[in-house]
Amino acid sequence: MNTTEILHRIHDELRPIIGQGRVASYIPELAKVPADRFGMAVVGIDGSVVAVGDADIPFSIQSISKVFTLVMALQLEGDALWERVGREPSGTAFNSLVQLEAESGKPRNPFINPGALVCTDILCRRFAVPENAVVEFLRPLSGNPSVQYNRAVAASERRTSSRNAAMAHLMKAFGNLHNPVDEVLDAYCRHCAIEMTCVELARTVTFLAHGGIHPTSGQRVLDASLAKRLNALMLTCGTYDAAGDFAFRVGLPAKSGVGGGIVAVMPGECGVCVWSPALEPSGNSLAGSMALERFTTLTGRSIF
Ligand code: DON
Repeated sequence: MNTTEILHRIHDELRPIIGQGRVASYIPELAKVPADRFGMAVVGIDGSVVAVGDADIPFSIQSISKVFTLVMALQLEGDALWERVGREPSGTAFNSLVQLEAESGKPRNPFINPGALVCTDILCRRFAVPENAVVEFLRPLSGNPSVQYNRAVAASERRTSSRNAAMAHLMKAFGNLHNPVDEVLDAYCRHCAIEMTCVELARTVTFLAHGGIHPTSGQRVLDASLAKRLNALMLTCGTYDAAGDFAFRVGLPAKSGVGGGIVAVMPGECGVCVWSPALEPSGNSLAGSMALERFTTLTGRSIF
């Protein structure tokens, strides 16, 4: 089977389960997205695009933005970042406060909310409008010069962001947040509310499959060693508390978001993105996780 046939087969196989699970509702604006959407795209490092279903419909990237804020924070800080954020799986929910208190305000990794807040804090120091810097980072990589964040979704999250505010204040008390909490939360909610399609996201992450060089634009985004490390972090921490199970079932570095998107990287080959808004209790897309599991099974490829 070629990639087109594999994606169509996955879409057909999953039809009965698409919509099972729960669309995130703790951000009220996200609850309005229909649960029965499903899209999947594979973009090769040669620029080839294969897509099925709703792969051209923009959705809220949410925590997938944590990959991009980490890349930007690493570009600015290099190894000094690791003094403020760890590199271990947390084994807790993405918005848990318990560990942060016990570990003196140093988040376990950059993909749980407090870790991403530290990366956003770094962007706040460097950029006057950090969310615009994230958007501008994504435009050439995605191939869409009009990538933007959704103001209604950002405002909806900002109004209900008590847990993130608690994490930010706790880190501020420990000296691990340098800018005003409100500034960091504003920028964080806005970059989480960026909207992109599966094709755009799969194309964006091809630099992680290609030693840090974005194959279609030719841009060096990260050096090869950092690209390898980003993939390691995605494998171990990218799907939160479910990262072990995800590595077992799928076997690819991946990052999920509560908008129902998951990006994955097949090193040396392609970037992948799947979107289906109904989630498992861990916060990962239910149909999306199954689609990626079928993808590595049917292609016979994974990093293992
Ligand atoms: O901070 C939040 O809760 C959301 N903006 C993002 C959380 C998220 O996507 C976690 N994903 N699985």
